[in-house]
Amino acid sequence: MSMERKRKVSLFDVVDENSLAAKLSRANGSAAPQIPPTINRWTGRTYSQRYFEILEKRKSLPVWQQKDEFLRVLRENQTLVLVGETGSGKTTQIPQFVLEADFLGKRPMVACTQPRRVAAMSVSRRVAEEMDVTIGEEVGYSIRFEDCSSSKTILKYLTDGMLLREAMADPLLERYKVIILDEAHERTLATDVLFGLLKEVLRNRSDLKLVVMSATLEAEKFQGYFNGAPLMKVPGRLHPVEIFYTQEPERDYLEAAIRTVVQIHMCEPPGDILVFLTGEEEIEDACRKITREMNNLGDQVGPVKVVPLYSTLPPAMQQKIFEPAPAPLKEDGVPGRKIVVSTNIAETSLTIDGIVYVIDPGFSKQKVYNPRIRVESLLVSPISKASAHQRSGRAGRTQPGKCFRLYTEKSFSNDLQPQTYPEILRSNLANTVLTLKKLGIDDLVHFDFMDPPAPETLMRALEVLNYLGALDDDGNLTKLGEIMSEFPLDPQMSKMLVVSPEFNCSNEILSISAMLSVPNCFLRPREAQKAADEAKSRFGHIDGDHLTLLNVYHAYKQNS
Ligand code: CDP
Ligand code: MG
Repeated sequence: MSMERKRKVSLFDVVDENSLAAKLSRANGSAAPQIPPTINRWTGRTYSQRYFEILEKRKSLPVWQQKDEFLRVLRENQTLVLVGETGSGKTTQIPQFVLEADFLGKRPMVACTQPRRVAAMSVSRRVAEEMDVTIGEEVGYSIRFEDCSSSKTILKYLTDGMLLREAMADPLLERYKVIILDEAHERTLATDVLFGLLKEVLRNRSDLKLVVMSATLEAEKFQGYFNGAPLMKVPGRLHPVEIFYTQEPERDYLEAAIRTVVQIHMCEPPGDILVFLTGEEEIEDACRKITREMNNLGDQVGPVKVVPLYSTLPPAMQQKIFEPAPAPLKEDGVPGRKIVVSTNIAETSLTIDGIVYVIDPGFSKQKVYNPRIRVESLLVSPISKASAHQRSGRAGRTQPGKCFRLYTEKSFSNDLQPQTYPEILRSNLANTVLTLKKLGIDDLVHFDFMDPPAPETLMRALEVLNYLGALDDDGNLTKLGEIMSEFPLDPQMSKMLVVSPEFNCSNEILSISAMLSVPNCFLRPREAQKAADEAKSRFGHIDGDHLTLLNVYHAYKQNS
């Protein structure tokens, strides 16, 4: 208590002194007065107590040791590659360092991309809190269907897809002084396109700076691609992680994962658990089963808080992963434990403090595209060695941890590929090609892709776009193509929307397109499959899924 009071008093002292100094300097007519360290430079308000509390924590993050060096390298170079372990403070701190760079002028504008919407939202909230500003004002975010930024915004977190959209209207991205491409190792489709695009923009804008941030080892590849840009490495992981493999392959990884959670909770010292699974249904199913198992154990074990995490989870629910573990039931009782069951989001995008145990069944959902049959699908596939390494790293953030890999050591060495293939090599490129055409890139063959997609995939995309009338026979963007490119939709769907008035059905088509653009409205939990099917059948339409979705929408509207 007394400590705290002392601190407040000393803060107050600083204000006085500095404002006096400021007054004096103004009276002397000297250059701009120094801003006192207690006044928020961006809002002009006095910092709250919470700001200083968080500041202490922030200063202990590894990136802070290289703050000055980072700013120096940034000043001297146009492009810079920065790698560091997850949780070292890249995403939350580096953009704030950039804002402090004196060579950017009074109101810099910084963009920081994220492959995932969840990360963009959650990280920007955190940074707004760290900077003691209101989210949506100085610090904001922009994701598809939601723009939480304003004319005051100086730091914007946005999905890589959104930055690509902004480039369509503003090809040189002139509103930004610094662009940070974060999570570059994820090699999403949009990030890969941005690489090539920004390389071009940098040539045309000497005042623009680019920071490429990545979690893993491909740093030299990024460096080579960006013409030998300097590489900064943030020192590694904080604590050792012990890795365990299963003796025999597991037949049912879900069941094995749940069993491991229960064992950890019964036998291991305190520390939260992170379980990697592949998707919403599986995760919800696992959460229910874990909760049930724990209830069966009754008072023998400490209380648990089981929280799911996946991209379509509503934001308020996503925040739950940051809540602390439950308190013991009795004062001297067994400590509680938080159990987070997550998709790949928790692999590198979001850092959850307090995780000590990681359970890695070795799978994730990955996009696969077969250009021969023109089908893109999301398949549950084995992860790469790089992913497995990232996952185990999550256990060592705050103290030494343990990672339980639900596969054999032999399978890890022999079956897992070293890196996940970049998304651009696994996707239908129709939408990407349309975007590139709209961005004025006509020569797709010579576009500077870090990993060029297969010619066949590009050909298929050009064919589809030509067939839809978005490109003419010479491959040039048509008027229709230009309109289609404005929609954040697949070309088939944007075409359907654009021509629907000719068939007097724009209202219905708009509803159907909207229904196809949100997460699936039908849930089919394992325990209630029959009931779910019955409920769905009430909306069924004989002509297929699209009209079924329209029925759902109408029923929703009619019943308010
Ligand atoms: O980007 P990187 O993985 O290097 O780390 P980060 O996302 O900047 O996170 C750095 C630290 O910020 C984490 O270890 C957390 O302690 C903290 N953080 C938090 O407390 N709440 C959030 N919503 C995000 C980050
Ligand atoms: Mg990060």
